[in-house]
Amino acid sequence: MNKIAILYGSSGGNTQLVAKQVQELFDGRADLYDVADVRLDDIKAYPYLILGTSTTGVGDLQDDWDGFLPSFAKSDLSGKTVAIFGLGDSASFSGSFAESMRIIYDAIKDKVKIVGQVPDEGYTYDDSTAVIDGIWVGLPLDEDNEYDLTSQRLQAWVDTLKKEFV
Ligand SMILES: Cc1cc2nc3c(=O)[nH]c(=O)nc-3n(C[C@H](O)[C@H](O)[C@H](O)COP(=O)(O)O)c2cc1C
Repeated sequence: MNKIAILYGSSGGNTQLVAKQVQELFDGRADLYDVADVRLDDIKAYPYLILGTSTTGVGDLQDDWDGFLPSFAKSDLSGKTVAIFGLGDSASFSGSFAESMRIIYDAIKDKVKIVGQVPDEGYTYDDSTAVIDGIWVGLPLDEDNEYDLTSQRLQAWVDTLKKEFV
Protein backbone atom coordinates (compact mmCIF):
# COMPACT_ATOMS: atom_id res chain seq x y z
CA MET A 1 0.00 0.00 0.00
CA ASN A 2 1.13 3.53 -0.70
CA LYS A 3 1.57 5.96 2.20
CA ILE A 4 -0.17 8.87 0.44
CA ALA A 5 -3.91 9.08 -0.27
CA ILE A 6 -5.44 11.85 -2.37
CA LEU A 7 -9.09 12.47 -1.50
CA TYR A 8 -11.04 14.73 -3.81
CA GLY A 9 -14.57 16.02 -4.21
CA SER A 10 -15.51 17.38 -7.60
CA SER A 11 -18.85 18.58 -8.97
CA GLY A 12 -17.89 19.32 -12.57
CA GLY A 13 -14.66 17.33 -12.98
CA ASN A 14 -12.03 20.06 -12.55
CA THR A 15 -10.88 18.96 -9.11
CA GLN A 16 -10.85 15.35 -10.25
CA LEU A 17 -8.53 16.21 -13.15
CA VAL A 18 -6.20 18.15 -10.87
CA ALA A 19 -6.22 15.30 -8.33
CA LYS A 20 -5.04 12.98 -11.10
CA GLN A 21 -2.24 15.42 -11.97
CA VAL A 22 -1.17 15.44 -8.32
CA GLN A 23 -1.18 11.65 -8.33
CA GLU A 24 1.04 11.59 -11.44
CA LEU A 25 3.50 14.01 -9.84
CA PHE A 26 3.95 11.53 -6.98
CA ASP A 27 5.18 8.88 -9.44
CA GLY A 28 3.03 5.99 -8.29
CA ARG A 29 3.41 6.77 -4.57
CA ALA A 30 -0.17 8.05 -4.09
CA ASP A 31 -3.62 6.44 -4.28
CA LEU A 32 -6.71 8.34 -5.43
CA TYR A 33 -10.16 8.38 -3.79
CA ASP A 34 -13.37 10.23 -4.63
CA VAL A 35 -15.00 11.33 -1.37
CA ALA A 36 -18.37 10.56 -2.98
CA ASP A 37 -17.72 6.86 -2.35
CA VAL A 38 -14.69 6.49 -0.09
CA ARG A 39 -15.09 4.73 3.27
CA LEU A 40 -13.21 5.77 6.40
CA ASP A 41 -11.76 2.26 6.58
CA ASP A 42 -10.17 2.76 3.13
CA ILE A 43 -8.01 5.63 4.34
CA LYS A 44 -7.32 4.96 8.00
CA ALA A 45 -3.86 3.44 7.41
CA TYR A 46 -2.44 6.31 5.34
CA PRO A 47 -0.09 8.62 7.28
CA TYR A 48 -0.23 11.29 4.55
CA LEU A 49 -3.41 12.75 3.07
CA ILE A 50 -3.97 15.30 0.32
CA LEU A 51 -7.48 16.76 0.33
CA GLY A 52 -8.83 18.45 -2.80
CA THR A 53 -12.09 20.37 -3.03
CA SER A 54 -13.83 22.91 -5.19
CA THR A 55 -15.87 25.81 -3.85
CA THR A 56 -19.56 26.00 -4.70
CA GLY A 57 -22.49 28.13 -3.58
CA VAL A 58 -20.73 31.26 -2.47
CA GLY A 59 -17.88 30.04 -0.35
CA ASP A 60 -19.54 26.67 0.26
CA LEU A 61 -17.89 23.29 0.42
CA GLN A 62 -18.22 20.96 -2.57
CA ASP A 63 -21.31 18.74 -2.14
CA ASP A 64 -19.61 15.36 -1.66
CA TRP A 65 -17.19 16.86 0.84
CA ASP A 66 -20.20 18.32 2.63
CA GLY A 67 -21.43 14.79 3.20
CA PHE A 68 -18.05 13.29 4.06
CA LEU A 69 -16.34 15.96 6.17
CA PRO A 70 -18.33 15.55 9.42
CA SER A 71 -17.53 11.82 9.79
CA PHE A 72 -13.97 12.31 8.48
CA ALA A 73 -13.26 15.06 11.01
CA LYS A 74 -14.67 12.91 13.84
CA SER A 75 -12.57 9.88 12.90
CA ASP A 76 -9.18 9.04 14.42
CA LEU A 77 -6.78 11.25 12.47
CA SER A 78 -3.97 11.14 15.02
CA GLY A 79 -0.48 11.10 13.53
CA LYS A 80 -1.62 12.14 10.07
CA THR A 81 0.00 14.87 7.99
CA VAL A 82 -2.43 16.61 5.67
CA ALA A 83 -2.21 19.04 2.73
CA ILE A 84 -5.19 20.77 1.12
CA PHE A 85 -5.76 22.10 -2.37
CA GLY A 86 -8.79 24.03 -3.54
CA LEU A 87 -10.22 24.98 -6.89
CA GLY A 88 -12.11 28.18 -7.41
CA ASP A 89 -12.92 30.93 -9.87
CA SER A 90 -11.09 34.11 -8.90
CA ALA A 91 -12.91 36.22 -11.50
CA SER A 92 -16.58 35.26 -11.07
CA PHE A 93 -16.25 34.57 -7.32
CA SER A 94 -13.58 37.09 -6.45
CA GLY A 95 -15.03 37.75 -3.00
CA SER A 96 -15.04 34.09 -1.95
CA PHE A 97 -12.14 32.64 -3.90
CA ALA A 98 -11.34 29.02 -3.02
CA GLU A 99 -12.89 29.50 0.43
CA SER A 100 -13.93 25.88 0.92
CA MET A 101 -10.33 25.05 1.81
CA ARG A 102 -10.92 26.98 5.03
CA ILE A 103 -13.93 24.81 5.94
CA ILE A 104 -11.83 21.66 5.68
CA TYR A 105 -8.90 23.33 7.44
CA ASP A 106 -11.02 24.46 10.40
CA ALA A 107 -12.56 21.00 10.78
CA ILE A 108 -9.22 19.18 11.12
CA LYS A 109 -6.53 21.68 12.08
CA ASP A 110 -6.48 20.69 15.76
CA LYS A 111 -6.24 16.97 14.98
CA VAL A 112 -3.57 16.74 12.27
CA LYS A 113 -0.37 18.37 11.13
CA ILE A 114 -1.23 20.65 8.19
CA VAL A 115 1.43 21.23 5.54
CA GLY A 116 1.44 22.75 2.06
CA GLN A 117 0.31 26.28 2.95
CA VAL A 118 1.43 28.81 0.33
CA PRO A 119 2.07 32.56 0.40
CA ASP A 120 -0.59 34.79 -1.10
CA GLU A 121 1.52 35.86 -4.07
CA GLY A 122 0.53 35.80 -7.74
CA TYR A 123 -3.22 35.54 -7.12
CA THR A 124 -5.74 38.25 -8.07
CA TYR A 125 -9.03 38.28 -6.15
CA ASP A 126 -10.89 40.46 -3.66
CA ASP A 127 -11.29 38.27 -0.61
CA SER A 128 -11.03 34.75 0.76
CA THR A 129 -11.48 33.26 4.22
CA ALA A 130 -8.86 30.67 3.18
CA VAL A 131 -6.07 33.22 3.65
CA ILE A 132 -4.80 33.70 7.21
CA ASP A 133 -2.21 36.43 7.77
CA GLY A 134 -1.20 36.43 4.11
CA ILE A 135 -0.86 32.65 3.86
CA TRP A 136 -3.31 30.31 2.12
CA VAL A 137 -4.30 27.31 4.24
CA GLY A 138 -3.63 25.15 1.16
CA LEU A 139 -2.88 25.53 -2.53
CA PRO A 140 -5.49 27.55 -4.47
CA LEU A 141 -5.94 26.78 -8.16
CA ASP A 142 -8.12 28.41 -10.79
CA GLU A 143 -8.91 26.21 -13.76
CA ASP A 144 -11.47 28.71 -15.05
CA ASN A 145 -9.09 31.64 -15.55
CA GLU A 146 -5.52 30.54 -14.82
CA TYR A 147 -5.37 26.97 -16.11
CA ASP A 148 -2.03 27.80 -17.75
CA LEU A 149 -0.52 28.31 -14.27
CA THR A 150 -1.80 25.08 -12.74
CA SER A 151 1.06 22.80 -13.82
CA GLN A 152 3.79 24.99 -12.40
CA ARG A 153 1.83 25.69 -9.21
CA LEU A 154 1.30 21.96 -8.72
CA GLN A 155 4.90 21.07 -9.46
CA ALA A 156 6.24 23.57 -6.92
CA TRP A 157 3.70 22.47 -4.32
CA VAL A 158 4.33 18.75 -4.76
CA ASP A 159 8.09 19.38 -4.54
CA THR A 160 7.56 20.85 -1.06
CA LEU A 161 5.18 18.06 -0.06
CA LYS A 162 7.72 15.42 -1.04
CA LYS A 163 9.97 16.75 1.74
CA GLU A 164 7.16 16.25 4.27
CA PHE A 165 5.77 12.96 2.94
CA VAL A 166 8.80 10.74 3.43
C1 LIG B 1 -22.73 27.39 -8.38
C2 LIG B 1 -21.26 27.65 -8.31
C3 LIG B 1 -20.76 28.39 -7.27
C4 LIG B 1 -19.38 28.66 -7.16
N1 LIG B 1 -18.91 29.40 -6.10
C5 LIG B 1 -17.58 29.66 -6.01
C6 LIG B 1 -17.06 30.44 -4.96
O1 LIG B 1 -17.77 30.90 -4.05
N2 LIG B 1 -15.72 30.67 -4.93
C7 LIG B 1 -14.89 30.19 -5.90
O2 LIG B 1 -13.68 30.43 -5.81
N3 LIG B 1 -15.36 29.44 -6.92
C8 LIG B 1 -16.67 29.18 -7.01
N4 LIG B 1 -17.14 28.43 -8.06
C9 LIG B 1 -16.21 27.97 -9.12
C10 LIG B 1 -15.76 26.53 -8.96
O3 LIG B 1 -15.19 26.28 -7.69
C11 LIG B 1 -14.73 26.22 -10.04
O4 LIG B 1 -15.33 26.33 -11.32
C12 LIG B 1 -14.09 24.84 -9.89
O5 LIG B 1 -13.07 24.70 -10.86
C13 LIG B 1 -15.10 23.72 -10.04
O6 LIG B 1 -14.45 22.50 -9.77
P1 LIG B 1 -15.20 21.09 -9.90
O7 LIG B 1 -15.52 20.92 -11.37
O8 LIG B 1 -14.22 20.08 -9.44
O9 LIG B 1 -16.40 21.14 -9.03
C14 LIG B 1 -18.51 28.16 -8.16
C15 LIG B 1 -19.03 27.40 -9.22
C16 LIG B 1 -20.38 27.13 -9.29
C17 LIG B 1 -20.89 26.29 -10.45
